[in-house]
Amino acid sequence: MKIGIHDLEVATTHYVLDLDTLAERHGIDPKKFSIGLGQDAFSMPAPDEDIVTMAAEAADTLLARHDVSKIRQVLFATESSVDQSKAAGVYLHELLGLPANVRSVELKQACYSGTAALQMAVNAIARTPEEQILVITSDVARYALDTGGEPTQGAGAVAMLVTANPNLVEIEPGSGFHTSDVNDFWRPNDSTTPYVDGQLSLDAYLTATTAAWDDLAARRDLSIDDVDKFLHHQPFTKMARKQLAALAEHTGHELSDELIEESMSYNRALGNTYTASLYFALTAQLHNNADLAGKRLGFFSYGSGAVAEFFTGVVQENYRDHIYPEHVAKQLENRVELTYDEYRTLHSDFAATSETYTTQPTTHAPFRLSGVTEFQRRYEAQ
Ligand code: CAA
Repeated sequence: MKIGIHDLEVATTHYVLDLDTLAERHGIDPKKFSIGLGQDAFSMPAPDEDIVTMAAEAADTLLARHDVSKIRQVLFATESSVDQSKAAGVYLHELLGLPANVRSVELKQACYSGTAALQMAVNAIARTPEEQILVITSDVARYALDTGGEPTQGAGAVAMLVTANPNLVEIEPGSGFHTSDVNDFWRPNDSTTPYVDGQLSLDAYLTATTAAWDDLAARRDLSIDDVDKFLHHQPFTKMARKQLAALAEHTGHELSDELIEESMSYNRALGNTYTASLYFALTAQLHNNADLAGKRLGFFSYGSGAVAEFFTGVVQENYRDHIYPEHVAKQLENRVELTYDEYRTLHSDFAATSETYTTQPTTHAPFRLSGVTEFQRRYEAQ
């Protein structure tokens, strides 16, 4: 029985900052961002947006095409959780009107946990193939102002429906894993921005993803040449190029950038979306390439701290009948461009407090955070 990603949808924020604006005000050559990091812009949430509103928008569009009564679990993966205790999926459950007899839980391991959620979903469907699972990856990547990480901020969500006999991608059994305790990027409970050792994070990413490939190669009869396209977690898109070059050197195989080129367009425009980044790479590859039927995709998932997984999936025959690139185009076009000063103010006012009212609603999105009263987050459809 084939199990995998049956359908997916994405969402992002109301605002966008063009990286040329940041470069100009910081006295940096814009090519450092556009070529050196491979990034053009980043999404930024309005005060009434967060991981829940983005996830709800993506999932709402997705579920309009499906029978929600078959959904048995909501697995919500995020680095930028809005509560230390309550799972973001519970808010989502209410906003989407899902049945009460659904399990809802949140998963964390930096940018990696979306992959854990996807694999948990695949394994659960193997036991109960008639059921369906909603996997959410949603994040706001927010670095401190005037730091090296600042141009790699971003925000976005990918919602995926995992089922038997999927329309898009069958996830193949057998992954390669790598875990090692590295302090490359971490965020203590009382901090809204991460601590980062930039160079260590680059090294840790390359070490962990290469080791994950080695683990898979030792377990499955799979050569690097059996993979038709590679997809990466893209904190910035240049990282995918760095990883592919490192993999080529490690395996002694020539690996051209054509293997990853089509997976970068959305991440270039959105910035880092942490858990969602790898799945935006998948979305871009499916949207940008009309010749993927029957092709094997290799997924490099990485979460600082650090955990990596390499796994594979096979694109299904009629996948072109089940993709909606126009929805992503609309999400990107709808964003309102920020001035530098507006960006700085939004960044500084980010954290919701115990009593917050978002009196200036943004209008493009179907759901919003209307405020926080008595420490409780209030969401509403609009
Ligand atoms: N024209 C073209 N290229 C230029 C340039 C110019 N004028 N000026 C600089 N560059 C190039 C540099 O040569 C460099 O390219 P290479 O890496 O290929 O040599 C690139 O631009 C970046 O320049 P720097 O290394 O000088 O950049 P930096 O020190 O300011 O910061 C960074 C880079 C460390 C990645 C920083 O953005 C950062 O800390 N980001 C956050 C951490 C991160 O994303 N780490 C990635 C792995 S961890 C992970 O994946 C988990 C996660 O999501 C966070």
